[in-house]
Order: sequence, then C-alpha cells, then structure tokens
Amino acid sequence: MHAEPAELTARRHGPLRGRVRVPGDKSISHRALILGALAVGETRISGLLEGEDVLNTGKAVAALGAQVDRLGGGEWRVHGVGVAGFAAPGRVLDFGNSGTGCRLMLGAVAGCPITATFDGDASLRRRPMRRVLEPLARIGAHAVGDADGRLPLSLKGAREPIPIVFAPPVPSAQLKSAVLLAGLAAPGETVVVEAEATRDHTEKMLAHFGADVRIKPHGSLGRRITLVGQPELEPHPVMVPADPSSAAFPLVAALITPGSDVILDGVMLNPLRTGLLTTLAEMGAAIERLETRNEGGEEVADLRVRAGALRGVEVPASRAPAMIDEYPILAIAASFAEGATQMRGLKELRVKESDRLDATAAMLRNNGVEVEIDGDDLIVHGRGRAAGGGLVVTHMDHRIAMAALVMGLASERPVKIDDASFIATSFPNFAPMMGGLGADFA
Ligand code: S3P
Repeated sequence: MHAEPAELTARRHGPLRGRVRVPGDKSISHRALILGALAVGETRISGLLEGEDVLNTGKAVAALGAQVDRLGGGEWRVHGVGVAGFAAPGRVLDFGNSGTGCRLMLGAVAGCPITATFDGDASLRRRPMRRVLEPLARIGAHAVGDADGRLPLSLKGAREPIPIVFAPPVPSAQLKSAVLLAGLAAPGETVVVEAEATRDHTEKMLAHFGADVRIKPHGSLGRRITLVGQPELEPHPVMVPADPSSAAFPLVAALITPGSDVILDGVMLNPLRTGLLTTLAEMGAAIERLETRNEGGEEVADLRVRAGALRGVEVPASRAPAMIDEYPILAIAASFAEGATQMRGLKELRVKESDRLDATAAMLRNNGVEVEIDGDDLIVHGRGRAAGGGLVVTHMDHRIAMAALVMGLASERPVKIDDASFIATSFPNFAPMMGGLGADFA
C-alpha cells in the first residue's frame, strides 16, 4: 500500500563519504517477474528491486496465475504458466505509479485469451495508453472502456494473436516491450523497427530465456528487432544489477557537495542507459570506473565519484533515450555548473510520472536557479550555486522528489519537498542510504 504524503527537507551538512550499493534495476526487475511468469517452471531472481512499482507487477502476475514467492531480501522465486498461459484475474490489476509495469503487462496479457482490468494511481491515470493499445489492437487485443486511452481500462486479449511489424512513433522501451511480449503468443515473426534504439532489457532477457530474438542495426541510430513467436520460454536465473537511474542521485549529490568522495558498487553500465555518465564526463565530472565486470549479462562497475567543478554543456536530443529518466537530476548538476546547459528534445518528459519538463523547471526556479523551457528543450543557466529555500511540489513523481533533496544538500538554504512517499516506488531505502553517506534529511 502506498504511504501517506510526508514532507522532507534536505540541508547542507558536510561532505558525503562512503560506499553503497543502490537497489536493483527497476526495468530488469519488472521484466524478470514477467518473463518468469511466462516461462514454464521455476525462475530464481536475486537482487530484485523491492520498490512499490515492481511489487505491483509481482502482484499482477500472481493474480494472473503465476506463483510468486519472496525467499529473502531481493531473492524471489516465480513459477511460470507458459507463453499465453495467463488465467483471467479475479481482481483489478493495480499498477500504482508504474507506467512500465502497466504497459509491459498490457502487452503480456494481449497475447492471452482473457480479459483483465488495468488501473493505477492518479499519476498513472493521467498517462497515455493509446500508444500501446494501437499496436495491441493490430495483434488482436482490444480495450474496452478506454474512451480517452487512459486507465482504468479492460483489455480483451487475442484468441489468435497476429504477428505484426511495428515502428513505434516515439522512442519508448515500454512500447517496444509491450509489442514483443504480445508477439510471444503469435505464430511467426513479430518485428519492431526502432528509429532510435531504446533500452534493450526485454530483448536480452527474452534471449536469456531461450527465445529466438534477432537484432540488426536500422539507420544510424535505430534497431530492427525480430522475435520468433510461440517459444517455450525456459526458466533461467536472473541477477539484477544496481540501477544506474537510482545511482544517479547519490552520484550527482557527491559531485555537487564539496569534499565528497563516494563509491557506488556494481552499477549497471548497459550502453543504452549511460547517457548521464557521458554528459557528466563532458561537464568535467570526476567519475572513475573501478572493477568493470559482467554480472548477469550486463557490464557493471564500481563508480568512484568525487566532488569538483562542472561546466555547462549542450546535451543532444539523440542522447535522450539513453538518459530519459535522468533529466531532473542532470538539471540539478547543471544548476551547480558554470554556464548554460541546453538539454534538447525532451518532449517525452511531458508524459512521465509527472510533466517532468514543467516540474523540473519549477523545482529550479523555486530555488533561485535561472531556467527556461524553449519548445522541447530545457536550458539551465548554471552559476555554480543554488540559493535553495524553496518548497518543491513533487506531483507524485519519485525522481522529482529525489532530485530536489539532492539539491538541498548543496544549496545555500534548505530545500523542502511536499511529499517523499513516492520515492518508495523505485528507491525505498533512499533516505537512510543517503543519511549513511552523511546527508541531512529531516
Ligand atoms: C522504461 C522505459 C522508459 C523509462 C521508464 C522505464 C522501461 O519509459 O522512462 O522509467 O523499463 O522500459 P518509456 O519507454 O516510456 O520512454
């Protein structure tokens, strides 16, 4: 259950020091539960993110007939029902705050001859689902009661799913994944042609579970993904690496808090997720990759981060898919840099857990940082400092909440957020972990 709203204030205290491992990757955690539920037999997952978003996906696959058991901290076991094997759920599937859980599960249910009702919290009810429902309708699954393409809605899965060739109109791993998961149940080849490559965790995990997935380059930035349908997915253990999107918060906190020296253990460095690291390196950040290794099919490294001067840079639109969740925290780094940082091509931020373009600009503005929105671009005029002293309205958005708290660790006056409760969707131990590094949150 989601907790009551709770204000929280971050204030300057001193340098951040220590070594921590942030929780498991959210994207991989959702997919491990879903593919585990679609495999025949028992999948073991270690390092699962036990945040509200992922737990809701676990409850959804359980309601659809998979057996999901928690064995201990981050250790989970899923007994799957096989491709197209979901049974009609006896209750509404509630995805809480999670667009990923909801959209991926729309795809997974679309290939099953059942009807299920999908719902979520006020934030998720505002987010667009039509982008997913359109390709799923071509596959043969139809939504009922979705007059405006929003939740709540019921999806009637396909009796005889049709394999399609789909070119997503926006770069979206959620959309791609929904189509691939529905395509699992279709005979023949389902093809997704991406103009710009997005995170490839679904493709990699499908291959890990034995599906025939072929990936070819498409144009200069894109990929063509072909999935051969109706595989028998075989369970394989999944090790979930540390989430780079969660690591981004202590990482930027260490960069902007004078005297800090922090090591973040085992952070996943999938190249479709490392846009923030590329950008921070261009800004002059001191981030060392120690002990680069492979964990569960992904490159990971321990990142040593030391505070230092940053300079403003231009972030090209082509980098957005590799750092789509990192703009609020990059905007904080940009505030403490010298000079302007122009972040291009941020249209998709308008349909995240909040309108993140507006919410990010308001967060900075309320704390004395000069910022402009120019079309789809965000421009932050960094002065090497932020006044702070503002109240940040988080709009049910965990990443706005964490970014604002990070700002308060280095701003002249404290930064207060209206509601820290949504941090539990992706990073449940954020406040104690930051406290262990020396952060003052109260
Ligand atoms: C995700 C894809 C991204 C990202 C989200 C997780 C995923 O969303 O913002 O946090 O796991 O596939 P879009 O695919 O809508 O860009």
